[in-house]
Amino acid sequence: MKIAPSILASSFVNLKKDIELLERSGADIVHLDIMDGHFVPNISFGFPIVKAVRDLTSLPLDAHLMIENPEKFIDRFIDSGVDMISVHIEGNYHINRILNTIKKNGVKAGIAINPGTPLSFLEEVLSIVDFVLVMSVNPGFSGQKFIDSSIEKIRKLCKIRKKENFSFEIEVDGGLNFEIAKVLKEMGIDILVFGSFIFKDIEKALEELRKIK
Ligand code: DX5
Ligand code: ZN
Repeated sequence: MKIAPSILASSFVNLKKDIELLERSGADIVHLDIMDGHFVPNISFGFPIVKAVRDLTSLPLDAHLMIENPEKFIDRFIDSGVDMISVHIEGNYHINRILNTIKKNGVKAGIAINPGTPLSFLEEVLSIVDFVLVMSVNPGFSGQKFIDSSIEKIRKLCKIRKKENFSFEIEVDGGLNFEIAKVLKEMGIDILVFGSFIFKDIEKALEELRKIK
């Protein structure tokens, strides 16, 4: 199980210090929540911060794009040095083209799915994606409560992966804490994203999480 802190919950005043601390405390991936104020009701940060984070760490960077028309910006995210990019299934008409563009540039391509969207929407892309990001809160903000029905959805996705012998990883994002992480670990989830849980005390949270990895 890989631990992916989301810097959305960090205080940007301390970004350099926090990234160094994440690295020292055993984070595996840095999760970057990119929001445009259209796809979600919040605006987060863009390329200058992504590039700054790239310069600060050698950990893999995971860009979660919560933006409209992501195809316009894929090249720039790739040029900014990210290692993984996920786009949402909702509202993207040419999802096959977008995912293939990401992959052909040597970056891992993920499909993200909102809590209200059924897994059946993913049917045509599960064989081509490197990972599936299951949102367990409605995207837009960190610090929200985990939506309990996500567990059943994730279980279903695990079953499909097993039955069809797919190779994608599963990433779960939103409202995670230590207790939920234990459950997800048992279920065989590959990547867990943590915002508020980690940033309230980076060293302590990562020490706890490392024990159940
Ligand atoms: C929500 C983001 C999440 C979120 C995680 O739109 O995709 O990554 O910031 O933060 P917590 O763990 O606080 O829900
Ligand atoms: Zn995210």
